[in-house]
Formats: sequence, C-alpha cells, structure tokens
Amino acid sequence: MAALNKKTVEDINVSGKKVIARMDFNVPLKDGVITDDKRIREAMKTIKYLADNGAKTILVSHLGRPKGEFNMKYSLAPVAVRISELLGKPVTLAKDVIGEDAKKKADALKNGDVMLLENVRFHAEEELNDKAFSKELASMAEIFVNDAFGTAHRAHSSTAGLADYLPAVCGYLIKKEIEIMGSALSNPARPFVAILGGAKVSDKIGVIESLLDKVDTILIGGGMAYTFEKAKGYEIGKSICENDKLDLANELIEKAKSKKVKLLLPLDSVVADEFKNEAERKTVSCCNVPADMMGMDIGEKTIELFTKEILSAKTIIWNGPMGVFEFENFANGTRQIAKAVAESGAVSIIGGGDSAAAVEILGFADKVTHISTGGGASLEFLEGKVLPGIDVLEDK
Ligand code: 3PG
Repeated sequence: MAALNKKTVEDINVSGKKVIARMDFNVPLKDGVITDDKRIREAMKTIKYLADNGAKTILVSHLGRPKGEFNMKYSLAPVAVRISELLGKPVTLAKDVIGEDAKKKADALKNGDVMLLENVRFHAEEELNDKAFSKELASMAEIFVNDAFGTAHRAHSSTAGLADYLPAVCGYLIKKEIEIMGSALSNPARPFVAILGGAKVSDKIGVIESLLDKVDTILIGGGMAYTFEKAKGYEIGKSICENDKLDLANELIEKAKSKKVKLLLPLDSVVADEFKNEAERKTVSCCNVPADMMGMDIGEKTIELFTKEILSAKTIIWNGPMGVFEFENFANGTRQIAKAVAESGAVSIIGGGDSAAAVEILGFADKVTHISTGGGASLEFLEGKVLPGIDVLEDK
C-alpha cells in the first residue's frame, strides 16, 4: 500500500482542543431529504475519533453551489440531523458560518462535543480562498483537520486557506482514498484495465493521457465513445459528439498504439430516436448509426468484448457510465459492466460521481474494492494532479 506522507488526526493531540474539521457533506437532497448519505457515513470515522478523543469539533462543509449567498435551500440542517443519528449524540447546527451564533456555539463546546457550521459557501469569500475569511474561520479553532476528499481539488478557504493559520492534518477518509487509489496507480497487479465512460471526452482527456502510461487496456464507452467513432470516420447519427475534439481523439488512439496500450471502442450501440426511456430502440453496429438516431448504450457485442477484458484484469479503475443508465431501457450496458467488475476478483476502484451512483443504484456497491467519494477530485487524482486540499497539510 502506498502510504500517504501527511500527518493525520492520530499525529496530533486533539484532546480539549477546538478542531475545525472540513468534510464533504455535499450530498444529494430531494425535497429536503438526503437520498444518498455515503459521504456522511464515510466521514464518521474521523468525527467519532475526534469526539472519542475529547476534541471540541467544529464541522465545516459546503452543500451545492449557493453562489455566496444565504439560501436555505442549501442549508446543512438535514446533514446535522444525520450526523447526530450516526454519532448517537446531539450535533448542533450554527445559524451562520463566522457570525455571532457560530462563535457563541463554538465557545460553548465541551470536550467530545460536535457542532456543524452552516454552509460555508454562503460566503463568496470561501471559493475565493480569501485570506481574511480563512483567518476568521481559523480564529474559532486551534487545529485544522481536512477530510473532505471530494473537495480536495478545490483551493478554497476551508479546504486549503485554513492551513495558513492552523496546524493542518488529514482525517481517515482522505488517507484511505489516497492510499487505495495511489497504490493502484503506482503498483498495480496486472493486467490493469481502465474503463472510461460518461458524456464528454473533454472531461477525460487528462485522465486518458495519464493512464496511457500506466494501464494495459483502456475500454471506452458512454457518450464519449462517439467522438472517437466519428474521428475514425464512422457514422454516428445524432449521437453526442465533441466535433472540436476529433483530432485529439485520433491522437489518443495513436498514442495508445505507440505505448502498446490496448484501446478498445464499442462495436455496437443501442440507439434511440429520442432522448427518453420509452424511445424506440434497436441495436446497430457502431460504424453505422442511422442519421436520425442517437447512441444511448453499448450493445451486446461490446458487452462481451469488454467483459472478457474485465474478467482477466487484476486491477480495474472505472470512471463514467457506459450509457444513459438513469433510463432503465438503456442501463443494461452499465449494469453488465458493473456485474463483470464485481465478478472479476480484481482490485476494483470506482471513481465517484455518476459511475459511483450507477454502481450503488444497480446494486454492486458491496462487491467492489473501493468507491471513491470524490467525483472531480478522483478524476484529478487519476490525472496525477496535485490536490490543493492535501498539498497544504503537514508532512510526516
Ligand atoms: C463534488 O460533489 O464533486 C464536490 O463536493 C465538489 O463540489 P463542487 O464541484 O461544487 O466544487
């Protein structure tokens, strides 16, 4: 396992200390109800450690993108309730972030108590990594713990700026994410297969380039495959395509050849005449999507081709669904690939965001090695980029 060379909560004495702990509680909500609490559950190990070791914990997070203004639609109130349930004791929510209520509640904390500040993005200064704002936040605490892996790619006040004013260490989630993904990248059991999907090639260029130096095989599905298919001169009909990325797609195909990486594209597609679940659908060869139809999923021949590669893999990284899995009629490709990954026996790592949601919804979550809590953050990590929220932490 590639060890993370940063200090953790265990390397600092938290007893009796006010600790400001940045978490990623950016969870999906429907009508004020949390629909997936994975990010909260994954944060609990650090929260419990702090509470059990006598810290006075001040949790901080963003939720959504409230654009720097108070907006109760983005209140962390449901999150405070969920943390309290998981922790088994009350977790107070401050009415503000650096205001009177937050400071009063922080001052009243006793050893082992846990409170949550209101959504830190209610202040525009947060995303600007404003120094005065970071200093004000820091003034409420004596130690900064960052465990927000999902937001570690953002250099904001509460993810990075706090480290200018407080001793800064990571929590258990950041440690776990970096160590599992880091060891897969640096010392993978082979064959090492990457599965990439999702709508846009432009989101995945950096990842493909970086993975070309590491993996044996890249399987490309989802909407982004059609940009590659068009670049090869195939008819893709009304399928999603980034026409300004055709040359780049060809370059990536050539690079893969020169690096002896097997880059496989879909052989067939399930196409539809409209972007909806009930649309008329049929399977066609990928070279020949009818002009009035669009690709919505990978077809059976592609599933067979990809499954063979997946079942022989020893390490798998998967980022991006194979089709429009949100529509049941076009979820088969993503489901079959998830099933193959689950049955492969390989070390399997699912990047966050849509592919994580797909694996959860399709029922394979407990059969893979690791599902990242980071969408953008896990992509940037796979690209080999430095994540500012981790970079600022103290080295061991
Ligand atoms: C995420 O959901 O990817 C993180 O919470 C970061 O959110 P952001 O993209 O709004 O910065």
